[in-house]
This record gives sequence, structure tokens and C-alpha cells, in this order.
Amino acid sequence: MTTGTTPDLVALERGIADEIAAAGDEPALEAARVAALGKKGAVSELLKGLGRMTPEERQVMGPALNGLKDRLNQAIAARRAVLKDEELSRQLEEQRVDVTLPLRAAPIETGRIHPVSQVIDEITAIFADLGFAIAEGPDIETDWYNFTALNFPEGHPAREEHDTFFFHPKEDGERLLLRTHTSPVQIRTMQTVKPPIRVVIPGRTYRCDSDQTHTPMFHQIEGLVIDTESTIGTLKWVIEEFCKAFFEVERVKMRFRSSFFPFTEPSMEVDIGCQRVGNELRLGEGDDWLEILGCGMVHPNVIRATGLDPEEVQGFAWGMGIDRIAMLKYGMPDLRAFFDADVRWLEHYGFRPLDLPTLARGLSS
Ligand code: DAH
Repeated sequence: MTTGTTPDLVALERGIADEIAAAGDEPALEAARVAALGKKGAVSELLKGLGRMTPEERQVMGPALNGLKDRLNQAIAARRAVLKDEELSRQLEEQRVDVTLPLRAAPIETGRIHPVSQVIDEITAIFADLGFAIAEGPDIETDWYNFTALNFPEGHPAREEHDTFFFHPKEDGERLLLRTHTSPVQIRTMQTVKPPIRVVIPGRTYRCDSDQTHTPMFHQIEGLVIDTESTIGTLKWVIEEFCKAFFEVERVKMRFRSSFFPFTEPSMEVDIGCQRVGNELRLGEGDDWLEILGCGMVHPNVIRATGLDPEEVQGFAWGMGIDRIAMLKYGMPDLRAFFDADVRWLEHYGFRPLDLPTLARGLSS
């Protein structure tokens, strides 16, 4: 009797073991397990038959079938472990990281600094090196700060030249305005800082004007030095040092032309030498001239208007258009494009955000 059933079990076991060994993935292995050990599996069916056997038969078949079941379970577990390993190896192979690939550009790499911000950073780096601090004032000004305190008499034609944007009059009749230059911050600084004063004043300014080199909002930077003995000699030296550093040249050809501003006496305009070579504009040398700023000794009336005594302190000031010298230095043809917010323009003319201008490393490199 026993000799009749045992060979069947050996064949059955071999068949199932082959199926387990051949299972190429988890579903195939599960199918083999269900076919043998599931509720209606071949081995389960045999186990169910134990109850119908004689005690003698059961004594032989019980351990034989349970042994078979255990061995099959072990074989399934072993195969499952092998499949898991293979799957992991396959994933590692497929999802391999190529560390030699270039990095995707981070936002900090793709962002650009606007040329106006860049030039403000360059100019303030130069003047910080000369011992200047930065001062700022409001864009909306009173007539007194923008004109009267700067020695523009009421009704003086120089007021008209500024193409001022005025606000509607207030109830008391006063008309606020958008400052037409950064010079009112000279007054605010002299009112609040005890001399010696050495400041540069960058900021937005406004005039009703628009063409290729003018926009209704533009930027200026103003300089102010007030102490007991600053002279035109110091002024010229400061301007020359600034021009050499800003245009990144060893020498700069310049001339001071006499001019008129109500708030300075004497007043001058400064031109630098330049030369057109093909499409390129070379700055600092050559037989042509480019006007870059206005300057002069601060008028005694201006010093007096701030409450300081022109018999005790004196000094000089200058002012220039930031956008204009940015155009000159970086060869940008149309000022209006500065404020169009076109990212293609910014990508072309903008500066990399982490290349902060410093005198030691070079301003614009
Ligand atoms: N405020 C003048 C303007 O907007 C520029 C200027 C000229 C400023 C001479 C100064 C200066 O401080 O001394 O045209």
C-alpha cells in the first residue's frame, strides 16, 4: 500500500518544485503556490484525504504529506527571496544615477540682476571705498525740498525746465510732486547729519519726458560732501577717481565745463573723452566728448536753508543719470527697454546674481 503512494508523492513534489524553480516573477510563484498549497491545491487535496484513511495508512501518509508541505513552503520562500534580490538588482541597474551629467540650472543661476541695480551696486562699491555712506529720501517731495531749499527762486525759469509731475493741490493749496532729481536728499541729509558729511544718494526720479534716451521715471545718483575745507580740487579728484574705477580704465581724459545749477556756485559739467571705433564706443580716450555729470560747490544759500552756517562749513555735490551711464558702459541703445520688463532683454543685458561688484575682484567681470 505505502509502496503504491510514495512514488506519486515524489513525482508530485518534483513537478511542483520545478514550477517553483521556473517561476520568473512574484505572480508566477504565487500561482505555483496556490496550485499546490491553496485551498484546492494538489497537496491540500491530499491532506484532506487523510481523514478517510486507515490509521496505518495515516501513520505513513501524515508525516509524508506534512513533510512535503514544509519542503514546498521552504522552496517557495527561498524562491521569493531570490526573485526579490533579482528585482532589486534590476532596479539598481535601471535607475542608475550618472553623476557625470551636468546639474540642472538652479533659479539662482538663471535669474538676472537688472543693469540699473548692477550699476548702482558698482557706483556704491566705488564710493564706499572712498569712505562714503548711502543716504535715501522719499520719491514724493514738497516744492520746498525739490526746489526752494535748493535755491530755485519762485518763478525762476530753471523750475520749468524740470517738467515736473505735480499732484492735485491739497486743501491748504500745497502741491506735492514727484521729485525731479535726487538733490532734495542733500537738504534732508544736511538737516539730519552733523558734518562732516560724505554720502551718495541713489534713487528714482521723475520728469514728464519720453524718447530713446528719456523715460518718465529714471534713476540718478547724487554725491554730497560737507565739511570745513573741501574744495574744487577735492571734487575734481573724487570725480576722476570715480570715472577711472567705474569705466575700468587706467587713465581717463576729462574736462570740466562751466555751467549753471541754482544749487551750486561755481557749477560745472563733466565730459569724458570717447571714441567710436566701428560699432564700439571707447570711453576715457579719443577726440569726442560725452557729458556724464553735473557738479559744483554747494551754494551758500543751500547750506543756509538747512540751518547750517555757510561761514563754518562748505562742500561740493554732483549728480548723474544712472541709466544713462549704464547705457554708455554696457552699450545699450534704447533707455525705454530698461523698463519694459522683457525677460529676453534681461537675459541678454542682465548680470549673474552672485557676481557682486567689488573693487578687488573687478566691478563688471
Ligand atoms: N540735480 C541736477 C539735475 O538733475 C544734477 C546735479 C547737478 C546735481 C549738479 C548736483 C550738482 O548735486 O551739483 O540735473
